[in-house]
Amino acid sequence: MRVLVIGSGGREHALCRALGLDPSVSELHCAPGNAGIAAVATVHPVVPTDPRAVAALATRLGAELVVVGPEAPLVAGVADAVRAAGIACFGPSAQAARIEGSKAFAKDVMTAAGVPTAGARVCVTRQEAEAALDAFGAPYVVKDDGLAAGKGVVVTSDRDEALAHSAACERVVIEEYLDGPEVSLFALCDGATAVPLQPAQDFKRAYDGDEGPNTGGMGAYTPLPWAPQWLTERVMDEVVLPTVRELARRGTPYAGVLYAGLALTSSGPRVIEFNARFGDPETQVVLDRLETPLAGLLYACATGTLADEPAPRYRDGAAVTVVVAAENYPGDPVKGDRVEGLSTPVKDAYVIHAGTAFDAEGRVVSAGGRVLSVVGTGPDVAAARAAAYALVDRVRLRGSHHRSDIAARA
Ligand code: AMP
Ligand code: GLY
Repeated sequence: MRVLVIGSGGREHALCRALGLDPSVSELHCAPGNAGIAAVATVHPVVPTDPRAVAALATRLGAELVVVGPEAPLVAGVADAVRAAGIACFGPSAQAARIEGSKAFAKDVMTAAGVPTAGARVCVTRQEAEAALDAFGAPYVVKDDGLAAGKGVVVTSDRDEALAHSAACERVVIEEYLDGPEVSLFALCDGATAVPLQPAQDFKRAYDGDEGPNTGGMGAYTPLPWAPQWLTERVMDEVVLPTVRELARRGTPYAGVLYAGLALTSSGPRVIEFNARFGDPETQVVLDRLETPLAGLLYACATGTLADEPAPRYRDGAAVTVVVAAENYPGDPVKGDRVEGLSTPVKDAYVIHAGTAFDAEGRVVSAGGRVLSVVGTGPDVAAARAAAYALVDRVRLRGSHHRSDIAARA
């Protein structure tokens, strides 16, 4: 099978790595890719949010499966254009991707499907925002209604800060604060049915101890030794399947990965957010453990044949990933610094590239906020964590920062 992956981050490198290990994949392409992806796939320059350009590239390459990584191309209609060109595509249509693209749309679907989530109000004016903040009380949760790469959310007990964020956005969703550990569950969907992958946990705040601003994610691990046995089945029954059925009922069937960001509250799992794509960096650890060849699973989603596939299998043991971020991330990150120390092998650990590129001399330099996602594996979370940090310690990138407490309490 000839496969084309769209995107250029850590998630796409992890997807390419797993696809490259699948014997059914005869050719692997990625557009636009990054310096790490270039070692495992043929990379092509393309504007990933340009539906016509992506469909034309897929046609030219004779791709039999296109896997769309990030949300922006999905919301822009890239999956629609690829399917219109007659090519199987893993990724929801622009209509269905609104589950991530619009928080208000997601809430509407959840209400219709009876999915447990935080109570919320959509606010445009200052008066509406003030009334919502006072109705829900502190801690305040204020979310930009549009796409914001995980950075449009402010959670604070400072009412003025909450109001300032809502004033800075055109339209916000203000919601009830959900208390409890967070879990990311990815479900593979083919429009009619859905299959869960192994749950993971992500670390959203920039600094140790869950301090500092929200980021796209600073690290992740799987499996979750502390999670209740019933977690996955309950989330499928109460969250994923009702959502998939509701989207099909609306005439916008969902084919791709539905990412449920959940809070395990005292009254059960509740949805914090949906994403229309794999989580980054959770994908790095989930795909590391996945034993079932990935291309077959994604192709089944793209062609409506998921019900015929056996349930995904996993390797024993655990995986932990630690993100190495550029100076000033999650603000405006510093780019163009040399990344060194990548060639020294460390047992049971490897580097996934996120925001990297080659400079004019062919050396790897930073090109984004999250630069690397270092993965460690082992028989348990503690061993995987030790392997990941042993490799993080070898990486040299001026001004970089990473959390030192990823998976420490697992
Ligand atoms: P989101 O972009 O919606 O995933 O939000 C980013 C992060 O903000 C989440 O991972 C949570 O840590 C936090 N958050 C969002 N919504 C809530 C909520 N209703 N209650 C508590 N924390 C939240
Ligand atoms: N790791 C969180 C996300 O991908 O949105």
